[in-house]
Amino acid sequence: MDSRRPTALIQGASRGIGLEMTRQLLADGWRVAATCRTPATASALRDVATTVGATQCRVFALDVSEEDTVGEAASDFAEWTDRLSLLVNSAGVLHGEDFGPERRLSQVRPDVLHKVFAVNAFGPLLVAKHFERFFLHKERAVFANVSARVGSIGDNHAGGWYAYRASKAAQNMFTKGLSIELGRRAKSLIVLAVHPGTVATELSAPFVPRRGPDTRFTVERGASQLLEIFREATLEDSGKFFAWDGSEIVW
Ligand SMILES: NC(=O)c1ccc[n+]([C@@H]2O[C@H](COP(=O)([O-])OP(=O)(O)OC[C@H]3O[C@@H](n4cnc5c(N)ncnc54)[C@H](OP(=O)(O)O)[C@@H]3O)[C@@H](O)[C@H]2O)c1
Repeated sequence: MDSRRPTALIQGASRGIGLEMTRQLLADGWRVAATCRTPATASALRDVATTVGATQCRVFALDVSEEDTVGEAASDFAEWTDRLSLLVNSAGVLHGEDFGPERRLSQVRPDVLHKVFAVNAFGPLLVAKHFERFFLHKERAVFANVSARVGSIGDNHAGGWYAYRASKAAQNMFTKGLSIELGRRAKSLIVLAVHPGTVATELSAPFVPRRGPDTRFTVERGASQLLEIFREATLEDSGKFFAWDGSEIVW
């Protein structure tokens, strides 16, 4: 594998959209650094990495809610290469063992707000802080945060889902800020927020209607649509929020 080939980092690659983006980038010949909280239990990701070998894919431990692990992953990554062409923050949380999105105000819980904000909002910002140095080069590169349309304040017509919506809205503000600040130092860097649509992963599983067909995108399609956006984006697109079909979403 040619070490001059483009390198991507997929943050949140143990499963879902992040795992599938990793697979597709590897199939396209990219070198991929795939991060996940616990590599020891991420068997699907380890299988993908083992199949292509350590020259093309490496797995790094990174929990976005623990800044130390973000810094350590960046140091370990620096031993492999000094530049990135693509970084995608895909990790996200909508529900857990003892919580789901709030339907009404009485269901709001501070512990859930903290957890969801730590992963969805603060996580991508901390990754930017520790991985900025890999974008200080002159070649085209993309830094993308996987957001959600429900994080658009202008598009909120239904209410509810306080933690998830607000964490993605905060993430969107961080994305906008990063596009401005990083744009000053990394002149060829395109910073984006993207909405993948509803994709068939564990995150969306509890919300599939019991009756009628499953209309969610397959994970293969969900991932390939995002990768197409990253391929097509230009510097003029930096600081924008795009849906899976390339249409722009109001922040
Ligand atoms: N699927 C959809 O319909 C949909 C729609 C709109 C937006 N999105 C967004 O798309 C992104 C990917 O979602 P998905 O559908 O692929 O979800 P998923 O299948 O549930 O995967 C979520 C990923 O986030 C990781 N993660 C959770 N907490 C983490 C932490 N503290 N540190 C690092 N990684 C952590 C998980 O790792 P573990 O395996 O370690 O838990 C897993 O890899 C998310 O940001 C989500 O909000 C998805």
